Amino acid sequence: MKVIVSVGGSVLAPDVESDRVAEYGRVLRELEDAGHTVGAVVGGGPTARTYIGAARDIGANEMELDQLGIAVTRLNARLLIAALEDRAVPTPVETHERAREALRQDDIPVMGGTVPGHTTDAVGTALAEYTNADLLIYATSVSGVYEADPDTDPDAEKFDSMTAAELVDIVSDIELAAGSNAPVDLLATKLLQRSGLRAVVLDGTDPTALTRAVDGTHDGTDVVPEDEA
Ligand code: UTP
Repeated sequence: MKVIVSVGGSVLAPDVESDRVAEYGRVLRELEDAGHTVGAVVGGGPTARTYIGAARDIGANEMELDQLGIAVTRLNARLLIAALEDRAVPTPVETHERAREALRQDDIPVMGGTVPGHTTDAVGTALAEYTNADLLIYATSVSGVYEADPDTDPDAEKFDSMTAAELVDIVSDIELAAGSNAPVDLLATKLLQRSGLRAVVLDGTDPTALTRAVDGTHDGTDVVPEDEA
């Protein structure tokens, strides 16, 4: 199976310590050992927010802030590359073309951000679409997709399965509410919808959840193509 994993920076390196990253490296290597083709896209997390906050205070504009964010995602990508030992392309991959080439050669491409104006969820979704992946995993800090933001609505229920169109609707509603946090960003959900890919949204704070997503035994949310719903 060809699997692309989009790992939030706050999931991979919440406080830049080694254990979580090492465990991600181990799980991705095991998936490869089991015969799967694997690619990863890494977010910036709290480190990106710290840098962006400082630069915003200095007066940097939004493009400059995005460039700083991209630099931090690539810094986090280097951490994961270190944990993948010799399986990964040795530098963060900066284009989807190069990532596709690496997948074809059975190297693990690790991407961060690419261009200003979006997030790594969109980069990961585009990579999955471009490489015709069998499965896209969004490793987030929440346990799946809820009908409303569980932080503000404690009664909100989690979906076991949904279509990408339903995910677009839910994320649009959540993003309209100021200060709330969608599990996947809106552009990514729209790319997912057009791609017809199969995806899983899960809690990635336990990296072994990736293996369960591939086996189909995870407890996150499946996002299934329209014709299978
Ligand atoms: P992230 O993808 O990490 O955003 O990119 P996030 O929503 O904060 O995700 P977590 O916390 O890691 O889960 C961090 C920032 O980098 C810039 C944006 O400014 C984004 O907010 N960025 C990232 C880009 O401009 N382009 C990209 O392709 C990726």
